[in-house]
Amino acid sequence: MMIKVGVIGLGNMGRHHARIYAQTDGAELVAAADVREEAEDVARRYGARFYRDYREMLERERPDAISVAVPTGFHRDVGTECIRAGVATLIEKPLAASVEEARELVKLAESLDVPLMVGHIERFNPAVRALKDLIDHGDLGGLTSLTARRVGVFPPQVKDADVILDLAVHDIDLCSFLFGRLPERVYARAGKALNSRRWDFAGIFLDYGGAVALLQANWITPVKIRELTVTGTGGYAELDYITQKLRVYESNYQRTFDSFGDFVVKFGSPRVREVPVEGAEPLYLELSHFVSCVARGEPPEVSGREGLLAVTVATEAARSCEEGQVVEVGICPG
Ligand SMILES: NC(=O)c1ccc[n+]([C@@H]2O[C@H](COP(=O)([O-])OP(=O)(O)OC[C@H]3O[C@@H](n4cnc5c(N)ncnc54)[C@H](O)[C@@H]3O)[C@@H](O)[C@H]2O)c1
Repeated sequence: MMIKVGVIGLGNMGRHHARIYAQTDGAELVAAADVREEAEDVARRYGARFYRDYREMLERERPDAISVAVPTGFHRDVGTECIRAGVATLIEKPLAASVEEARELVKLAESLDVPLMVGHIERFNPAVRALKDLIDHGDLGGLTSLTARRVGVFPPQVKDADVILDLAVHDIDLCSFLFGRLPERVYARAGKALNSRRWDFAGIFLDYGGAVALLQANWITPVKIRELTVTGTGGYAELDYITQKLRVYESNYQRTFDSFGDFVVKFGSPRVREVPVEGAEPLYLELSHFVSCVARGEPPEVSGREGLLAVTVATEAARSCEEGQVVEVGICPG
């Protein structure tokens, strides 16, 4: 079955959606929309009809599935129109600019029974998949701590979100995915170092009740770093999101040792192994998953509700920064 796909927003991210749909089995990129006239070149390159008005595109092309890759502040309005048109909708991360807007989208999609997916791309990173498998098989034992570093220079196209909602939200979502639950509390600090209008650096501490996560995100560091570490009672894993390398150190913890010499031997050099990961473009895996779910009528991974939870935790982190206090993560059931 061929799924007719459209893309709204052909900027930094949306152009990659167009490129990938144009090459994805089972998908036909029929059209793309952007308010900028220059974006027509991108649409043409991938064989898509171009529209300046995405509503006209929805009406005329009647796609089965759509990617929304407009700036975050427009996700709610554009996403609403797509869902109302009954089109299976993938909205780039973060789902929306606020919890209220994210909830509106989720409720609308649920009430109209329209599939809604959120582009939390790292869920489709092959190294993350391999790490999740290790965790689920108990190879790392009980998880105690997670750290993530997502730092680099300022991306000039980000005009409407701060570093927590735009960047840290990736790791906020992954923490919930890897721990399998939401944090109970959050404490965060953020500041405006090089950007006078929005937070451009943040440190976030998430309390999972028995496990903790520490996230660092900024647009200050002159080199792009995307790293994750997970410590459990059975071992320690180091993951590089960019190179998709995953290394595991097996725990050598033993309760008794007779001498300091024994201590050094037992604790000094753990067994280390590189976990084989078949490298692949995460966005390709994400979009193929979306297309195949639409074709089969199955709910996609990373539902609107999961996107809403990530926005909720990111918003609580922002509230903690503003109030200078620990914030309980309250999830409204509605
Ligand atoms: N998953 C990821 O790793 C990742 C990476 C970058 C950006 N993003 C997300 O993608 C979204 C877009 O970010 P970007 O960096 O591509 O921004 P961008 O500014 O480069 O591109 C946005 C495009 O949307 C167009 N646009 C704006 N309003 C429109 C409308 N009403 N109709 C049609 N087109 C419209 C703009 O003209 C622009 O071309 C953001 O939500 C961002 O958080 C995700």
